[in-house]
Amino acid sequence: MHSREHVAFNKRALEAGYDMSELEAQVDRRLAIVRERHPIVNLAATMALEHFTAILAHQLLKNPKHLRGADRESGDLWRWHAIEEIEHKGVAYDTWLHATRGLSRWKRWKIKAKVMLFVTKNFVVDRSRGTLGLLRQDGITGFKAWRRMLWFTWINPGMLRKILGAWLAFFLPGFHPWKHDDRNLISKAESDYDAAVLPQPAAA
Ligand SMILES: [Fe+2]
Ligand SMILES: [Fe+2]
Repeated sequence: MHSREHVAFNKRALEAGYDMSELEAQVDRRLAIVRERHPIVNLAATMALEHFTAILAHQLLKNPKHLRGADRESGDLWRWHAIEEIEHKGVAYDTWLHATRGLSRWKRWKIKAKVMLFVTKNFVVDRSRGTLGLLRQDGITGFKAWRRMLWFTWINPGMLRKILGAWLAFFLPGFHPWKHDDRNLISKAESDYDAAVLPQPAAA
């Protein structure tokens, strides 16, 4: 179901006239690099990405400002996606705890910290390039594109700034995704489909 919606979302962007080929090629390149590495490093990369998506999802559901101006259907898709990401946020981490149970705490931490820094750097670089590429297709380029992107991601609504604390928590000793139980956000967003409980941004 999850993959189906990912494919459908990309198809919709394609139908709207966006060229997604460079974005997709970059994802394939990154995946190819990771696949050459040791399975434990692969697992750590998955775990790091899942932490990322979980804290992004948390922030997305918590703060309706992030979807300000989105049309209803797209907003629903993003909220549904965020629910899914929170629901499975502990799976990769539990797999990691099991797969690395023979390693020392220091070794485990070193691998996961290194991989997280690497994944974060790639994530920020790739997503920024992707954003600038999509803005270019909308005719927004140069300084204006950079300014808008940095303002949106770091200042207002400032998704990256707002997830900074949760991102850092990953490096703390004894970290586990479910130490931060945010299931209440799931039920709050789910109930939105019936009773519009989740606060909605005013139509732009
Ligand atoms: Fe997803
Ligand atoms: Fe996920």
